[in-house]
Amino acid sequence: MSGDPIRAIYDRRAASYDRTVGLGERWLLGNLRHAFGAELRGKTLEVAIGTGLNLPYYTAAVTGAVGIDLSPQMLARAGARAHDLGVAISLVSGDAQRLPFADATFDTVAISLALCTVPEPEVALRELARVCRPNGRVVLLEHVRSPVAVVYAAERLLSPLQERLIGCHLTRETIQTARRLGFTIESEERRLWSVFRLAVARPSSATGDGQPAPTSARSAVNPARYAAPGS
Ligand SMILES: C[S@@+](CC[C@H](N)C(=O)[O-])C[C@H]1O[C@@H](n2cnc3c(N)ncnc32)[C@H](O)[C@@H]1O
Repeated sequence: MSGDPIRAIYDRRAASYDRTVGLGERWLLGNLRHAFGAELRGKTLEVAIGTGLNLPYYTAAVTGAVGIDLSPQMLARAGARAHDLGVAISLVSGDAQRLPFADATFDTVAISLALCTVPEPEVALRELARVCRPNGRVVLLEHVRSPVAVVYAAERLLSPLQERLIGCHLTRETIQTARRLGFTIESEERRLWSVFRLAVARPSSATGDGQPAPTSARSAVNPARYAAPGS
């Protein structure tokens, strides 16, 4: 599934997203969103920010924030949440695989529960590395293929339906992929048979160089901005 169908799915899901995710979120994620927020520092980009469910966990260590998402409807909700929370963030519409930002722009680049949906996660990971400053950090909160055989069997069984319904793949090995691309995983927290992972990674100088999105493609992204305090 490529960008347009995914955008349409999330535009449709936006109104009910918080409610449906909220049902199992505490059980599935425990305090991982809180821990994710604690890893954000300096000038921070949150990729595939969705409705902004991580915004309540941003701390004062974030000195400037930008959020990007494919779905304008999800972004509109993130804007409303940021406004309610008084979080200053600039929100931009665009694709994780062609980030409309210059190389080495951010101290922290973060993404949660979205590399399962992005059509080409390797391309997106390289883009996260590209826009991250040297010595910056990439923070990943993702669900991945479990090393526990019976859980993996369930993931394999459910994944085709999940892919068809919401473009979400249950058996990706995202943290392994990041390692293969040259990220150094500095810390990794696991939850629920290691399905959910919070990883803090440092891209190597080569990670962002493998497959740069063409400049023309980057500037073709419409950086529609949404109102949020301080943006
Ligand atoms: C499951 S939601 C996760 C939202 C949020 N990060 C969270 O933790 O609740 C997946 C999000 O990824 C966004 N998304 C999917 N593919 C994308 C892409 N290629 N570029 C940017 N955003 C994308 C969707 O629009 C949606 O908001």
